[in-house]
Amino acid sequence: MSINSEEPPQEYIVKDCSFGSIVSSDPSPGSIPIIDISIFSLSSSHDPKEVENELEKLRSALSSGGCFQAIGHGILSSLLDKLREVAKQFFALPAEEKHKYSRAVNEVEGYGQDGLVSEEQILDWSSRLSLKVFPEDQKKLNFWPENPSDFRDILHEYVVKLKGVMDILFKAMEKSLNLVEGSFSSQFGDNSLIKARFNFYPPCSRPDMVLGVKAHSDRSGTTVLLQDDEVGGLQIFKDDKWINVPVIPHALVVNLGDQMQIMSNGIFKSPLHRVLTNTDKLRISVATFNTPEPDKEIGPVEQLIDEKRTRLYRNVKNFAAFNYECFQKGKVALEEVKI
Ligand code: OGA
Ligand code: NI
Repeated sequence: MSINSEEPPQEYIVKDCSFGSIVSSDPSPGSIPIIDISIFSLSSSHDPKEVENELEKLRSALSSGGCFQAIGHGILSSLLDKLREVAKQFFALPAEEKHKYSRAVNEVEGYGQDGLVSEEQILDWSSRLSLKVFPEDQKKLNFWPENPSDFRDILHEYVVKLKGVMDILFKAMEKSLNLVEGSFSSQFGDNSLIKARFNFYPPCSRPDMVLGVKAHSDRSGTTVLLQDDEVGGLQIFKDDKWINVPVIPHALVVNLGDQMQIMSNGIFKSPLHRVLTNTDKLRISVATFNTPEPDKEIGPVEQLIDEKRTRLYRNVKNFAAFNYECFQKGKVALEEVKI
């Protein structure tokens, strides 16, 4: 990537009409709701009416935009700040140091930029560090930075806390649709994968022509994103518009991935989202993707299939790998598993 003042190389220029034709708008109140998930935790002593209201807010958020900002998640602000700080320190290291953790060709883990899949591919204006963080026995510590020295401990601490948040969210998502407990979580399995992706977006001289991340939906089950605490850029596609996701420093952005859209038989949405660039500030985010155990077959929950809402998707195993194959062939995986 070039430095700020230079014109970006051709490979980064987005040529289709996605900049001009779709109006970006500031969110109208409630378009990306803020949900206090402490209300859903078992130990909460909230009155049932309040719990009901918040569950309805959750159901409505996930079945419209597929996205909300979680507050009351119980992860200390100081830990979130530390996670952002170690990410920043890592990306600020000299290139040789970062390249010690480089991703190999055809590998998913490690440091690098977009993997090349075709000649016409338009590149994202970002570098990333991707790491498997759960199950423990699948961690490849050779990709985990030793510099800064507290990187590993802080990431580990965050993931342990995040698993607790995920448990609360699964139960709440199940309850919001009146499902039997475990309808979603059992499809993920006890050893569902968690991958962390540290995203680094340098400033870019042509934000009108270059994207930090092109429009995509996540191939995960669920994604939790810690945004930069100052710099926005994330947009969600909702009601035919790109909507800016506001920066709320200690909130976690929850967006569903394709596999939750499948499991919920299309009731919950896996939103398209993208990241804009800007001319003067770098942006860092930490996305964590929770994905069902690859060998487990997932599919629409039976309770969500009836005459009025027939089964939309067939059962599928290892959707994440399938999704990647589709992407390489220019196909959309969710469309391919439709009945
Ligand atoms: C992603 C992603 C958004 C962001 O990593 O899949 O959509 O704000 N990131 O960095
Ligand atoms: Ni994403």
